[in-house]
Amino acid sequence: MCGIIGCVGGEKALDVLSSGLHALEYRGYDSAGVSFFNESSEIITVKATGKIVNLDEKLGKMSESEKRSSCGIGHTRWATHGEPTERNAHPHGNERVRIVHNGIIENYRALAENLTAKGYTFTSETDTETAALTIDYCYKTNGGDAVKAISEARALFDGSYAMGIIFADRPGEIYSIRKDNPLIIGIGEGKNFIASDITAILPYTKDYIRLEENEIAILTPDLVKVIDENGNTCDKKIEKALWDVKSAQRGGYDHFMLKEIHEEPEVIEKTLAPRIGANGLPAFSDENFDIKRLAKARRIIITACGTAMHAGFMAKYFIEKYARIPVNVEIASEMRYADMIIDENDAVIVISQSGETADTLAALRLAKEKGAFVTSIVNVVGSTIARESNATIYTWAGPEIAVASTKAYVVQSALMVLLSLGLALERNTMDEQKVRVLTEKLRYALPKDVSKILAMQDEIFDAVGYLSDKTDMFCLGRGIDYYAMIEASLKIKEVSYIHSEAYAAGELKHGTISLIEKGTPVIVLSTDESVRQKMVGNIREVMSRGAYVISITTPDAQIDAVSERVINLPSESGEFLPIAAATVLQLMAYRAAIIKGCDVDCPRNLAKSVTVE
Ligand code: F6R
Repeated sequence: MCGIIGCVGGEKALDVLSSGLHALEYRGYDSAGVSFFNESSEIITVKATGKIVNLDEKLGKMSESEKRSSCGIGHTRWATHGEPTERNAHPHGNERVRIVHNGIIENYRALAENLTAKGYTFTSETDTETAALTIDYCYKTNGGDAVKAISEARALFDGSYAMGIIFADRPGEIYSIRKDNPLIIGIGEGKNFIASDITAILPYTKDYIRLEENEIAILTPDLVKVIDENGNTCDKKIEKALWDVKSAQRGGYDHFMLKEIHEEPEVIEKTLAPRIGANGLPAFSDENFDIKRLAKARRIIITACGTAMHAGFMAKYFIEKYARIPVNVEIASEMRYADMIIDENDAVIVISQSGETADTLAALRLAKEKGAFVTSIVNVVGSTIARESNATIYTWAGPEIAVASTKAYVVQSALMVLLSLGLALERNTMDEQKVRVLTEKLRYALPKDVSKILAMQDEIFDAVGYLSDKTDMFCLGRGIDYYAMIEASLKIKEVSYIHSEAYAAGELKHGTISLIEKGTPVIVLSTDESVRQKMVGNIREVMSRGAYVISITTPDAQIDAVSERVINLPSESGEFLPIAAATVLQLMAYRAAIIKGCDVDCPRNLAKSVTVE
């Protein structure tokens, strides 16, 4: 989704904007732009469609003195209202005001009609331009009181927004507001920043403050002032980013996706270790989280989007198996409009890497409204979902930059297994020694198996060659392997653009098997030996219709006999192997994308953090 960066102070604000925009690329975008004050205190705006290098190229044609600037705002746009053209790229505004905006101004048509009646004309199709011109109108009618103007304009906006604003007659000042969209203020020495995402300012500072809803921030090189909705100056707490610059860089890997897959063993350990006591049992001491409360729930509802929701399927499997609590997994964007029956006897768990996904946040708010206790599993400390939940358990995966989620999914799944073991202990559904043995296996054997799989990378990549000219495929599994394949199938689709369907292996013959023809690739996951015979039967069904079967399995002669290619899994982690198998499937998706020449870290049309509905 869109990204915001702004810098005031020093002489090289434009360099900060450029490096910030590159750092924000991972969020997904289709155009970019900057507005900055030049040495003569005039606002210069430069925009380009496509990659940020196109913007760099335009800026590169300017002389050093033309580029010298101590204040500016920049934006990466992921089109919502209007095509991804230069005209629609941010910043928007007129000769008096320029803004960058993340989010959607829902009532922009009504605002535009009002502005047209007042003589304003529009040059783009965006909601953002109406927001900019509304601020301009309020600024004019207020005799140039910026805070008052922003505050008045804000009262007219319906929707969500994070904004960076500059006024032509106020060089050296940046203004900012937010609602339902993240924005932080970076505190530097002689320089201050705004950013939608901490990774954009990490090279300059780790100190930041969070802007709360309805607050207005005013930044100059030496001062950050935040004013609340009643006009009072707020005393804001300065926080320290836990991530460092290196964690948000590729570090020698060709792509972030590959780097992040290789980080999996380490982040599993980082996430699990602090939640395992000296006695070897799950021990959650996360802020506000009380496992007893969750253990008492009549039912658990897990809600999330995309990959995070698929981690919810893993959670369902283990919570039901170990703790015997019924679990429903709900798509967040559906749950918010579904008139669901939820009350205070239910516990809701939301899962989100970014902690900012608009649909997940809306589902969380709805669940709270209905009286449910909401626990969130979140990767970004202090994100909106974390702050609005009744309790939060953080995954310690570090920044996930590739648009396709990999390490976050693996740690979400591992953490949910630990949680289900903790719940089993609380509810006495499993004896302590069994919980201890499984906890040890999860903590030590799972990352070990993932490391072994990473060492098999060449073999895994080799097996993917067959997919290079394919457009359609299937991913099959049974039980928990099916849940793992739902995620695998999404990963393949989103990065390699091969259309893939995940199917419960036994369900295929109820219709979809008609799509299998000579050469159709079918990837099979079989870790659950209790249904091995059934799986072998299902492989025969597709093979006999011409499918090319690649099996990922614990070693088995029968599977060997019915598959074209077999990837044998290590098996120390036992029933947690489907989580380790995700690593194989992520590597396969990655390789398929590379073979097909896709932009693996930024797949087309996708955004990292989906902050609009
Ligand atoms: C796919 C992917 C998405 C996200 C989904 C939720 O690889 O990354 O499906 O999982 O948009 O995002 P978060 O976890 O940030 O709420």
